Amino acid sequence: MPDRYAVVGNPVGHSKSPEIHAAFARETGQEISYERILAPVDAFVSTLDAFRNSGAAGANVTLPFKVQAYQYAMHRTPRSVAAGAANTLRFDHTAAGVQISADNTDGVGLVRDICLNLGRAITDQRVLILGAGGAARSVIGALLDERPASISISNRTVSRAHDLANRFKLIVPDARVDVVESRQLIAHEYDVVINATAASLNESLPLIPTSAFAETCLAYDMMYGISPTPFLLLAANSGAVTSDGLGMLVEQAAEAFYCWRGIRPATSPVIAAMRRQAHIADRNGAT
Ligand code: ATR
Repeated sequence: MPDRYAVVGNPVGHSKSPEIHAAFARETGQEISYERILAPVDAFVSTLDAFRNSGAAGANVTLPFKVQAYQYAMHRTPRSVAAGAANTLRFDHTAAGVQISADNTDGVGLVRDICLNLGRAITDQRVLILGAGGAARSVIGALLDERPASISISNRTVSRAHDLANRFKLIVPDARVDVVESRQLIAHEYDVVINATAASLNESLPLIPTSAFAETCLAYDMMYGISPTPFLLLAANSGAVTSDGLGMLVEQAAEAFYCWRGIRPATSPVIAAMRRQAHIADRNGAT
């Protein structure tokens, strides 16, 4: 029996993780199975208990359960502690019982996509993060590890931006994290602008003046869809280099695969294959 993994979420039908992990397994010669599990919103723990007790080796966890996944574990990596959320769980079945470890690979996934796949530095760059929810919280630690010149957080609800900035100032004492209110963004410009809001989900645009995109700015939307989001369209019209979150999706999966299997798969072929599939789907009008 191959080791069993799954992505657990609600909804989960759209998740690309089974395809990505199947590609990694083929590429590395690892025998695994990987399924989608839809957990009822009020039954994450019992759903995960059942999967774990059936002998499963690990799980990816997606919305809305990432905080519960973190709480579910007995051991937590420092980066999952910084995020206060987990997207990867490992179940080690030992004579003494099952050890549950939590990790968060979203931040390193974003950083690898920006630095390795897109060839852009974060070090010494002025970074702006739009949004102050779970998605932003999951990536700020990894961005700080790259030693940017500064990280500014801007959010529709300003108090949440302050809470997030204060969280990281406590964790990383010399962290250059500040808050910029939306209406003050007009007075600043940034080298990297990351959309970590949920605005793209409903085709809306977070508040950002076009002047905030510095020359040769990288505008990155953590969302991935077939068509460019309103944020990416605005950024492209302002002269920025743009990227959606497909590379991050594959990179965070590669790091989870490494956490489970101890082997790091090559990501470029998988990103390219998924990009091709998306184009074909787009031409067919499928979503
Ligand atoms: P996630 O885990 O995806 O980050 P979340 O914790 O609910 O989800 O946070 C969603 C983020 O997207 C928040 O920063 C939210 O702003 P508020 O804190 O003001 O709610 C932001 N967001 C959602 N829809 C938005 C929109 N239409 N415009 C701007 N920001 C939006």
